[in-house]
Amino acid sequence: MKTTVELSKPVLAVPSRQGLTYYVKTFGCQMNEHDSERIAGLFEHDGMIKAESLDVSDVLFVNTCTIRENADDKLYGTLGHLKKWKEEKTSRKLLVGGCAAQKDKELVRSRAPWVDVVIGTHNLTNIINLLNQSEDWGPITEVLEEIESLPTDAPSARESEVSAWLTIQIGCDNSCTFCIVPSVRGPEISRRPSDIVNEATSMVESGVKEITLLGQNVNSYGRDLKIDGRSKPYFTELLTKLNDVENLQRIRFTSPHPKDFKLVTLEAVQNLSKVTNQIHMPLQSGSNNILRKMQRGYTQEKYLEKLQLAKDTIKNVSLTTDIIVGFPGETDDDFKETMYVIEKGQFDAVYMFKFSPRPGTKAADYEDQFVIKEQIDTRFMELKKVQTDISHVRLQRFIGTKQSLLVEKYSKKSKEFMTGKIDGGQTTHISANNVKIGDFVDVEITEATPFALKAILV
Ligand code: 5AD
Ligand code: SF4
Repeated sequence: MKTTVELSKPVLAVPSRQGLTYYVKTFGCQMNEHDSERIAGLFEHDGMIKAESLDVSDVLFVNTCTIRENADDKLYGTLGHLKKWKEEKTSRKLLVGGCAAQKDKELVRSRAPWVDVVIGTHNLTNIINLLNQSEDWGPITEVLEEIESLPTDAPSARESEVSAWLTIQIGCDNSCTFCIVPSVRGPEISRRPSDIVNEATSMVESGVKEITLLGQNVNSYGRDLKIDGRSKPYFTELLTKLNDVENLQRIRFTSPHPKDFKLVTLEAVQNLSKVTNQIHMPLQSGSNNILRKMQRGYTQEKYLEKLQLAKDTIKNVSLTTDIIVGFPGETDDDFKETMYVIEKGQFDAVYMFKFSPRPGTKAADYEDQFVIKEQIDTRFMELKKVQTDISHVRLQRFIGTKQSLLVEKYSKKSKEFMTGKIDGGQTTHISANNVKIGDFVDVEITEATPFALKAILV
């Protein structure tokens, strides 16, 4: 049975930490980055100011991840170091949230008793309340088994002034055997379209030009909603509504699931002027044998069909994917199948991961079939080498073309350059003379490395 969730407004207590500083350290995915922005927004509402680094902060929130690597060891190492940080100033507060906190609440508490607040993924908006309680009563843990409130229009302190995440759905109803997400983020729950559109509108009023819709499985958005007697306000309808938001310039979304891609969604991406021509289609493996063991719900052939449909439907589409190397039982032949799809797909970029057994997942039990580390490393290097060349060639297609660039920030390497993205999502650098953050400018692409483009104003 699905949990019924009321969209609740966060309790915004009277600001009580005026002038104190905070720092949020984030591990993991975009969902975590977005949660961190929401935490930062709640801290700022409470009167706190963002610190330059954790060394000079009074309140530290560690947002943990458990999707890959043995995050546990890393986490407890980090928390060990943070004991010293806390001892340097007795008034300091250490807060731990995110997926590892959700999964291992007792362990965090017992291995790092100096943590003031352990908070799960389902009750983030209660953070200030818990911080207050920990000051009155000592360390506190609040990890709920079920979602308490959906993301709201609670204040968010965004990393970028012009590009913002917008959560449309939380959790996941799939059961990929390698994945910890369903057990830490719960079942799939969609936010109501009107709430999403209202949030987008208020983001635009505060200067946002581009939104990225976030969910574990965005193209199944809405299958749990019943609005006005209709049972399925499809993702496509949501895109259409958002496309009408005045002064919003661009809409991106991530991540869709290949099995749930419909032609109508691809057509909407092509036809709606603000939706960018970019599709992330996580393949994970090209081998049917491995895909079955992963419980992905598609075959290599079906995947390639959908990929071709995306290429045929969306003009100049930019395609990206995720690959897991070394899933239990993966043979050289299975890996060859993955490389076949990589060659055939000609993706703009591939996010590559080495299989990492997550405790509690089915695949973690396939211990007798684990692929040895050296083999995983060799396959990973091969994939990386082949894809780097493909990415480089793919990016060169932009040289000499005119594009619109949304300028987002100063380049990390040099203040003489600014960085943004063109429609397809490709990172693009431009001289900082004559452009400023938030500009939406016409540029010509002049150079391509395997990972980024350079442009000049036209
Ligand atoms: N091991 C390696 N990679 C994983 N991913 C998810 N779980 C695991 C795991 N146990 C990857 C998948 C997913 C991306 C977000 O992280 O490729 O699409
Ligand atoms: Fe994990 Fe699969 Fe759900 Fe993605 S679709 S979050 S990989 S279970």
